[in-house]
Amino acid sequence: MSLHEAIYNCRAMRRLDTREVPESLLLELIEAANQAPSGSNAQMARWIVVRDPAVKKQLADLNRKGVESYVGPQQPMEGELSPHDRIVKSVYWQMEHMHELPALIVACLDYGEKVEGDAIYRKANSIWPAIQNLLLTARALGLGAAPTTLALRDQEAARKVLNLPETFIGACLIPVGYPLGKFGPVTRRPVEEIMRFDRWS
Ligand SMILES: Cc1cc2nc3c(=O)[nH]c(=O)nc-3n(C[C@H](O)[C@H](O)[C@H](O)COP(=O)(O)O)c2cc1C
Repeated sequence: MSLHEAIYNCRAMRRLDTREVPESLLLELIEAANQAPSGSNAQMARWIVVRDPAVKKQLADLNRKGVESYVGPQQPMEGELSPHDRIVKSVYWQMEHMHELPALIVACLDYGEKVEGDAIYRKANSIWPAIQNLLLTARALGLGAAPTTLALRDQEAARKVLNLPETFIGACLIPVGYPLGKFGPVTRRPVEEIMRFDRWS
């Protein structure tokens, strides 16, 4: 698959099979993530690939809390759904099945010292190029993946579940597995709408 094809067809794939993903492929994802740039090449990204059912269950419980506080408790959704409702439906599917998915990859940052407040956000951006490398590589390998953050809203709880040192922040949880849904092109605003040359107007 070309890089172009991966970029244009890298949907958030939430519906995943329970089939195990070979460890070699999981390592390939982390290798690709590890090639990403970071501010001052500080390389603060740290990765936990969670396969233990007990740990997955605890992360799934945290995700449920995050989803329910953000989107509200699950409602029956039938008939013609709007694009937003389709996302919400797949978020609920993921919420119900997260504990069964083959691997939950948690992208963390190690600040080297305990951090709080604004100091967290100043350096946290450096994790996202790595996450995108991981997502594109998953797509190229035929694996489904989706970046999520709701499970990590309660950092203290996530830290306990994952046994993270106090210098770590959990930034993103990415369930990975073989897709149940179909891969396809992403839907985005047209470039004419989101870009101007030189000045905005
Ligand atoms: C910073 C960030 C946080 C996200 N958090 C969540 C999340 O907590 N749960 C979730 O299901 N998806 C989450 N997503 C995935 C987005 O909902 C998804 O990328 C977006 O709807 C576009 O989907 P598409 O690429 O399939 O078109 C997140 C994406 C980003 C970039």
